Amino acid sequence: MESKKLLAVTGNPVLHSKSPLLFNKMFSTEQINATYFRIAADSATEAMFLFREAGLTGMNVTAPFKKDIMAEVDLVDPAATKIGGINTITNRSNGIIGYNTDYTGVARSIEEKVGTLEGKKCIVLGAGGAGRAAAYGLIAKSSIVVIANRTIAKAQEVAGQLGCEAAKLDCLEELLSHADILISTLSTGVEVVEEAWLRPSLVVLDANYKSSALGKMALNRGCTLVKGEDWLLYQAIPAYTHFLQSQPNENCMREALDEASKPLSSKKDVISLTGFMGTGKSSVAKILAKKMGYHVLDSDSLIEEKAGITIPEIFRTNGEKTFRKLEKEILNSLLDADHKKIIIAWGGGIVLDQENRLKIKEKTLSIWLFARPWKNLSLIKDGSRPLLNVENPGETARKIFLQRRGFYAETADLMVNSDCEYHNPDSIAEKIYEEICKTF
Ligand code: S3P
Repeated sequence: MESKKLLAVTGNPVLHSKSPLLFNKMFSTEQINATYFRIAADSATEAMFLFREAGLTGMNVTAPFKKDIMAEVDLVDPAATKIGGINTITNRSNGIIGYNTDYTGVARSIEEKVGTLEGKKCIVLGAGGAGRAAAYGLIAKSSIVVIANRTIAKAQEVAGQLGCEAAKLDCLEELLSHADILISTLSTGVEVVEEAWLRPSLVVLDANYKSSALGKMALNRGCTLVKGEDWLLYQAIPAYTHFLQSQPNENCMREALDEASKPLSSKKDVISLTGFMGTGKSSVAKILAKKMGYHVLDSDSLIEEKAGITIPEIFRTNGEKTFRKLEKEILNSLLDADHKKIIIAWGGGIVLDQENRLKIKEKTLSIWLFARPWKNLSLIKDGSRPLLNVENPGETARKIFLQRRGFYAETADLMVNSDCEYHNPDSIAEKIYEEICKTF
């Protein structure tokens, strides 16, 4: 069987992203052998390291990496070059290619509500990656665009490159008095618009779908609101085609957004750490538990307690099958109970069982610690991992990892880098903590 295709979205932060919902709904409905998760990283370079080393087929890119990731790919599509940002990368036989699908997404989401964009006066707030893509997409539809930004020099630079106007935020009230469309690409919490400036005839789109104060104001004033989630959907559709060279079922992806799917926050009382042997799950779990005031549990220790012997002894005397049975019993007893505030470090092979994977994903906030097993073996040379007590543990580790990679990916809400070249248990725990704090 062909191995599962891995796709992801990266950014900093990224745990809030709804992209996995859209893609995974398609994959499960149409039985496509692919899975989509989130990748946490501190830089575009780190995100690309994970992309390459974990063997991804494609990746969406969100703030703040859209510009920096351009230097990391082999080829950039001309529209993405002009916009100065990439939101979609694919791994092809001729190299890694970067595209921008944000610009078509913004145009389509507004057109769907208001019809043609030709001659419409549009204000784009923000001159970052999303702002540039929005302006480009609207200009391509013959709209009259003004980019308004706190730093006017940046707005002028972008406007000069794209062929539109720039304005200071001080002029916003005046600009809004005769604009047709307002698009905000500002970060959460940056509020520059006053409710009284919004006329009912205005069409408003806030790219920020997580929480939009602007969206609320627009509704209060009777404006036409285009949901940020529509933009998300309409950039995901062409991204899907770049990734898999086929057309997605748009209705299916839309349904995923409309369905009141269980928010991630409802799972944060139980945090799971999965990953290959030696990726630091137990150490990270202890540090993270301390930071969050959670209780820490380790499935391997619970198995040893239950069996009354060590894991190598279980493998030696009863075999791997018995070990897996005990492992599954421990998982069920932990996840069927109503635990609050616990962090569980799972043994590396827990994901081999499909029921285990589904339960971890359904009931816990599931974090995959990724490290290159063949480089991180120094941590597991103590004989405590029977599967690696072989002549060439590096080669064996690589093989086992490749068999399991798709399982880790489909179980994960978030992948975090735990490779020794980048991180230690403290910095890994800090990264997970940061993502959780920024998202919930
Ligand atoms: C195993 C991983 C080990 C332990 C056992 C089997 C595996 O746990 O459960 O040796 O199959 O990957 P760690 O992942 O904590 O090393």
